[in-house]
Amino acid sequence: MLSKKIEKALNDQIRVEAESSQIYLAMACWAEVKGLEGVAGFMYSQSDEEREHMLKLVKFVNERGGHAHISELKAPNVTFKSFKEMFETLFEHEVFVSESINNLVHISLEEKDYATHNFLQWYVAEQIEEEAMARTILDKINMIGNDKGGLYLFDRDIEQITVSTAASDTLE
Ligand code: FEO
Repeated sequence: MLSKKIEKALNDQIRVEAESSQIYLAMACWAEVKGLEGVAGFMYSQSDEEREHMLKLVKFVNERGGHAHISELKAPNVTFKSFKEMFETLFEHEVFVSESINNLVHISLEEKDYATHNFLQWYVAEQIEEEAMARTILDKINMIGNDKGGLYLFDRDIEQITVSTAASDTLE
């Protein structure tokens, strides 16, 4: 059984994951209208992953005697000054999500809720991967700068990052 405090904290995280899904969906749309199919595909798949993160929490809360609350979401940014700015936003957002997960882990220990603590370890590991991936992408974008040819190649190659992420997900 979840304590009220844990239930509230998990529900807050459900909203964070749902908002993440919307943020990446908006990024996918922006990339798509700008003609970068690879980046758009990557962002669509990130958006799907965030929805999975949310659903996993929803099921956990409901199965443990709580009630997952589906709430109103903050509207994401729909335009960006540049791809660099968009990927910076993605990286900063993942750092924010990691802090949010860390806070949740902290509360689970305070509440001596070891089942929730155990459940959250998947998210801890996932955040390490997501931050690392966002950092790698940002490094590449910084190298490219304003070079159009570089951006073309990046758009082609980013699909590989999606494929390798999908492959590691299947192995889990
Ligand atoms: Fe579900 Fe990218 O954090």
